[in-house]
Amino acid sequence: MTPSARTAIARKGPSLPLRWLLKDRLISREDTVLDYGCGKGADVTALRAKRIKAVGWDPYHRPDIHPRLNDVVLCTYVLNVLDGVERHRVLWGICERLQPWGEAFITVRRDLPRVGVLNGVQRWVELPFTSLRKTATYEIYRASRDDLARYLQGEKV
Ligand SMILES: C[S@@+](CC[C@H](N)C(=O)[O-])C[C@H]1O[C@@H](n2cnc3c(N)ncnc32)[C@H](O)[C@@H]1O
Repeated sequence: MTPSARTAIARKGPSLPLRWLLKDRLISREDTVLDYGCGKGADVTALRAKRIKAVGWDPYHRPDIHPRLNDVVLCTYVLNVLDGVERHRVLWGICERLQPWGEAFITVRRDLPRVGVLNGVQRWVELPFTSLRKTATYEIYRASRDDLARYLQGEKV
């Protein structure tokens, strides 16, 4: 297993960012949701318990392919464990799995040093998208498919 795959923890309930997104009704029963880089899948389980149509994909823990486009793509604590090239690839992956009207909620950790690599794998990441919520431990960005495509093509978002 790679160092980034080992960062997936077995969680008992939903992650803090997912709790907040649900509380603020940014994800609804009508949405189809993909959790991109879902790790061991606790957030998918929590969404399904609320009867939300959710699937998870993770190159190491949940490698099954889900070909559909989604209203919502979540990507939680994934980008911090990747280098720049792989981060770019993941953002394309998210973009390609969103409906034209869809929204991505991308959460990065904020309890890391701004410089250097913690435990050989965790890095500080900033994105040019709308910041919905910032705490001492995480920041949630919201991005549309167009925001992602513009950013990935090197344009201003
Ligand atoms: C810190 S864990 C977060 C897991 C999950 N999102 C959560 O919050 O519990 C980081 C995850 O990123 C996954 N990962 C590594 N490389 C990836 C890639 N290229 N695309 C998507 N996920 C990746 C790892 O397998 C790992 O499960």
